[in-house]
Amino acid sequence: MSANDIDWEALRATAETARARAYAPYSGFEVGAALLAEDGRVFAGANVENASYGLSSCAERNALGAAVTAGARRFLAIVIVTPGPGPTSPCGMCRQVLSEFAPSFPLRCHADDGTLLESTVAELLPSAFGPENLLDRGARGGD
Ligand code: THU
Repeated sequence: MSANDIDWEALRATAETARARAYAPYSGFEVGAALLAEDGRVFAGANVENASYGLSSCAERNALGAAVTAGARRFLAIVIVTPGPGPTSPCGMCRQVLSEFAPSFPLRCHADDGTLLESTVAELLPSAFGPENLLDRGARGGD
């Protein structure tokens, strides 16, 4: 599958379904993500909060964890849906974690007010620290 085959609306619907399952009793800010792998599989994630606030995990990282656990490491796109106002781009930690596997893939962030942010992980995290910085100890995760 290639970038031309991306069904953005289907990804958005999957992200919305995931968001409906978010566990966000502390912030009330429910997030869903849908991550499209190169092999056509779509992995969903929702944010999962915790009474120990700092242990909360974001929708994007949960989607990535599900994908890697299922054997997917190469990705074409991610769609993120949030309440708004305005589109929410991935937090710094998620940018770094997504960058490990797919620095240049496109992302779309939709908010309930109809706003949309289109970007790439590389654009959101320029000069990222990556496996190549580890010299011969690192290997690009997507390879
Ligand atoms: N959150 C995400 O899941 N993804 C983002 O891109 C930004 C923030 C979550 C973390 C926390 O559960 C809630 O949103 C409020 O920060």
